[in-house]
Amino acid sequence: MLIKKIFATTIALAAGITWNIAIAGAGSLTAPQETITIEGKKPVHFNHKTHLDLGLTCGQCHHDADHQPRTAEDIAGLAGPEELSCASCHNDAFANPELQKRKDVFHARCRECHKAGFNGKKGPTSCTACHGKQKKAVEGC
Ligand code: HEC
Ligand code: HEC
Ligand code: HEC
Ligand code: HEC
Repeated sequence: MLIKKIFATTIALAAGITWNIAIAGAGSLTAPQETITIEGKKPVHFNHKTHLDLGLTCGQCHHDADHQPRTAEDIAGLAGPEELSCASCHNDAFANPELQKRKDVFHARCRECHKAGFNGKKGPTSCTACHGKQKKAVEGC
């Protein structure tokens, strides 16, 4: 009897937690308006608006664990932005050794399109256009 009660309580708790996560996540995650920084040894500033204005869809950059493109609706329902972190999948543990290094995956996605162009528009391909100057002046000095 007692075991049955504990079991029922656990289920109710688990259901409650899932429900809370669903509420927190549902519809709340959208493309940031402000420029974000792609962190790493050679950080890059990235602006969603510039790219979405070209007519790109979310799934041209964001995909799931089965490599299926993520739609804006899929992204809205995620628990948090960390699920979109490229390096959360593309790291030393990734199955395909050619897609483990940050340089490889980001350059494949970002630089290749900049070279090839999209809707007749090319993007910048010089190292500094994305990575900025090697030596950064201290802000405000
Ligand atoms: C279109 C944008 C873009 C261009 C152009 C570009 N990169 Fe990158 N690169 C990135 C992004 C995004 C990352 C991921 C950020 C990071 O890992 O620091 C990255 C990562 C790297 C890394 C890996 C850092 C690490 O931690 O492993 C190196 C090294 C690098 N780039 C060098 C270069 C060099 C050299 C050039 C010019 C020949 C260049 N990149 C041009 C976007 C670009
Ligand atoms: C041209 C490529 C590209 C497109 C198109 C794109 N994103 Fe992103 N997005 C990125 C990259 C790169 C990151 C940073 C990932 C990382 O840091 O590993 C990111 C991060 C995010 C984040 C997390 C921001 C944060 O503060 O951590 C959200 C939310 C997001 N994207 C939503 C969207 C939505 C919604 C769309 C479609 C409307 C979209 N993105 C289209 C490349 C893109
Ligand atoms: C949830 C896990 C996951 C996340 C997050 C993820 N990827 Fe991937 N990625 C995959 C899988 C799985 C494949 C397919 C691997 C294969 O075919 O060997 C893949 C393939 C790729 C490829 C090669 C095929 C192609 O689509 O061109 C590139 C480049 C790539 N990812 C870049 C990115 C970038 C950039 C981000 C962040 C905006 C990202 N990935 C986020 C799992 C992920
Ligand atoms: C499918 C094509 C495509 C992809 C993927 C793409 N870009 Fe671009 N990007 C462009 C084009 C085209 C422009 C020029 C836009 C313009 O001139 O209006 C551009 C402009 C830029 C610029 C300069 C303007 C600005 O927004 O500051 C940066 C920096 C940049 N991209 C970084 C990146 C990074 C980093 C990634 C990968 C995470 C990426 N891009 C992925 C097509 C792409």
